[in-house]
Order: sequence, then structure tokens, then C-alpha cells
Amino acid sequence: MEPVHDAIILGGGAAGLFCAARAGQRGRNVVVLEKASEVGRKILISGGGRCNFTNIHTAPDRYISANPHFAKSALARYTPRDFLDLVEAHGIPWHEKTLGQLFCDGSARQIVAMLLAECAKGGAVVRTGQEVGAVDHADGVFTVATQQGPVRGRALVIATGGPSIPKMGATGFAYDLARRFGLKVVEPRPALVPLTLGGEDVLFRELSGVAAPVAASAGTGSSKARFREAALFTHRGLSGPAILQVSSYWKHGEPVTIDFLPDADADWLLDAKRAQPRAAVRTVLRGPLPERLADALAGRLGLDGAMAAQTDKVLRGAQERLRAWPFHPNGTEGFAKAEVTVGGIATAGLSSQTMAARGVPGLYAIGEAVDVTGWLGGYNFQWAWASAAAAAAAL
Ligand code: FDA
Repeated sequence: MEPVHDAIILGGGAAGLFCAARAGQRGRNVVVLEKASEVGRKILISGGGRCNFTNIHTAPDRYISANPHFAKSALARYTPRDFLDLVEAHGIPWHEKTLGQLFCDGSARQIVAMLLAECAKGGAVVRTGQEVGAVDHADGVFTVATQQGPVRGRALVIATGGPSIPKMGATGFAYDLARRFGLKVVEPRPALVPLTLGGEDVLFRELSGVAAPVAASAGTGSSKARFREAALFTHRGLSGPAILQVSSYWKHGEPVTIDFLPDADADWLLDAKRAQPRAAVRTVLRGPLPERLADALAGRLGLDGAMAAQTDKVLRGAQERLRAWPFHPNGTEGFAKAEVTVGGIATAGLSSQTMAARGVPGLYAIGEAVDVTGWLGGYNFQWAWASAAAAAAAL
């Protein structure tokens, strides 16, 4: 029988590989058990194949969790600069795309190769194609059944991610395992996901393919958020970065509000009436908005004819509506299209310093499996790196 490892890490994704590398380099004897035939498959498809590996604007308020304070400690102790130093030490060329998002110039494969090189440097063993069966815990030792026989470790790190993109093999495995050890799970929901439209809103589907710079808002109370980015109409509803961002805050039954004129002055339409009285309303709307969208919105507002033919009251009302157009999504495109999962292993049962389970010595949970979800734009990988580093320092 093989010796008892210091730690078994379940899942060879972003968090699992990084945790293995850091723990290995601290002299720990660690083994990663990855179910798939290759590691880091979500890294490989991320950022359109270029991996948006971090965001320089990382801050705790860019993460969603039942406990918004939980991520603070780990994020503060392992920063985007720390990860960038590693990327640069491996000679991987990178660039900032927009909004602080850092991407590889070349390929996401370079990030996976870097993580594997770091694992090798620490002597961490990475095994792929490992179908994990029962997990037992007795006398301070975790035993994980695999087809190749039992693997034993004094610590067990759950790094198997969330259920987004099931066709890549993603499941709720982490949650089942956590529950088995008495941890609670915050209801998982698809996040960073397109929204679907029904009812009255269905008419907007005719705009499929149209994109516009907007400000989209969703959520209530302290979990309300507003994002100024592009929205995209699709044949099923709404997508684009602004919508993906608000989807993480949206709940069934609530509206998503879109400001189609985020840059317009308060009296923009009234000023336009004075400046271009003979212009058709839709022509004026085509200034800030794409043509098909301008025409559809003018039609829905009943604004036919010239600007001069509209009363000031009507124009004021129209501007108000364009600044806060309510959509009523009837759902999301689900885990099949969700980049991440909101919810997951409840942070109440974990230490924010070490990611260790409070009631089970030696058990840890990191990465997307935990109820910490970042905005779009590299924030989720930064959480994977930071939570992995926090756990590795304690292993
Ligand atoms: P991750 O999912 O990476 O790894 C979990 C690993 O565990 C997988 O390798 C899986 O096969 C394995 N596993 C699962 N069950 C197992 C079991 N029972 N036994 C053994 N192994 C098991 N984020 C970002 O910051 N920037 C970006 O550019 C993108 N882009 C992006 C694109 C797309 C299409 C998706 C779907 C997601 C992104 N993300 C992203 C999100 C990012 O991929 C995600 O947050 C991290 O991969 C989470 O890292 P983890 O290591 O926690 O899980």
C-alpha cells in the first residue's frame, strides 16, 4: 500500500493544481486526483483560449457570497500582483485587455503548463483519469477509493469546482462530499449566464445579434449591482458582458433594468427636440443606439413622427423609460451555459484564513466549490489562486 500523503487534493483544476504546487514547495507530500484525462480543462477554454487569469482591480466587493467578508483575508494575502509575478517568472507574455482584465498573449495552455511545472518543482504528484469513489475518514486519515486502489492522506482538499458546464464533466460532487462531512451548502445557481426572455419581452428577440453599450442593474438591497458594459440581444433573450454580470445578482421573479442611454444628459431628448425639431424620433435615437434597437424602442414607446410633434412631457417620460427599461427574464440558459456557480459550500463552516472545515480537522475546500463567486473578468481565477494559497499555507 502506498504511504499516507500529507494531503490529497481532489480536482486538478485551477485551485487544485495551484494548491498542490504551493503545498509541495513547502515540503508537503501531496497528490492530486483528477477525474478527467487532462488537468485544467476550464483553464484551457477560458478567456476564449487566452485565459483571463486575473484582474488588477480585484477587491472583496467584486465577489458574491452569503458572507461578503469571507474572501477578504485570502484575497489580501495572495494578490493579482503575486500571480502576475509567477506568470512573468515563467516568461508568459500577457496584456491588459479592458477593465483590468489580464490575458495571455499566446494561449491558456501556457497557464496550465506553468501550474504543472510548479507542481513538479514541489514534487506534487498529479494523477489524471482518477474516478474517485467513497471517501472515508478515520483516525485522522482520509481514504479515497479509486480504481487504482485506496489513496490515503492526513488532509483532504475539495477542489472539484462547481456544476457549471456539465458537458465537461462538472457536477455537484464537491457539495455531496461537503455535506457528507456535515458542511452546509448554499443553494447553487448558474451565474455569468445569458438570461432568457418570455411574455411581452419576447418581442425583443427579433433584435437577435444587436449589441449596445448599456448599464444593466439587478438585485435588491445590499446585493444590488449595476454594470456599464455591452448587452447583446440573442434569439433566446439577453447576453453580453453587462447581462452576464447582472445574472449573478438576478433571482427568479425579479426584473433586470437596462439603461439604454448611460451617457445621456438628464434632458437629452428635450435638448434634441430644440436642436433638431424636424428629425424623426427614431433618427435621433439612432445617435447613441444601434439602428435596429433605436427603431424597436421608438416603436415600443409609440414615438412616431418628428421630434417637434412630441410634447415635452412625452419626451421626458420616454427618456425616463430609456434610462430604466425593465425586462422580466423568465430564466437563465442554465448550468449548461454558465461560466460559474453562485452558491456552494457554505463559508460559515470554513476558516477564512485557511479554508479548513471547522468541524473536521484536515478537511479543506477551495476554488469555485466554495460559496464565493467573482465578477466576470479574471476575478474567479484570482479567487481560485488566493483560496488555494491560503489552504496550501496551512497544509
Ligand atoms: P475547476 O472547474 O477549474 O477544476 C475542478 C477540477 O476538478 C476539474 O478539473 C474537474 O475535472 C475535477 N473534478 C470534478 N469532479 C471530480 C471528481 N469527482 N474527482 C476528481 N476530479 C474531479 N474565470 C476567470 O477568472 N477568467 C476567465 O477567463 C474565465 N473564463 C471561463 C470560460 C468558461 C467557458 C468557463 C466555463 C469558465 C470560465 N471562468 C473564467 C471560470 C473559471 O474557469 C473557474 O472559476 C475556475 O476554473 C474554478 O477553478 P476550480 O479549480 O475551483 O474548478
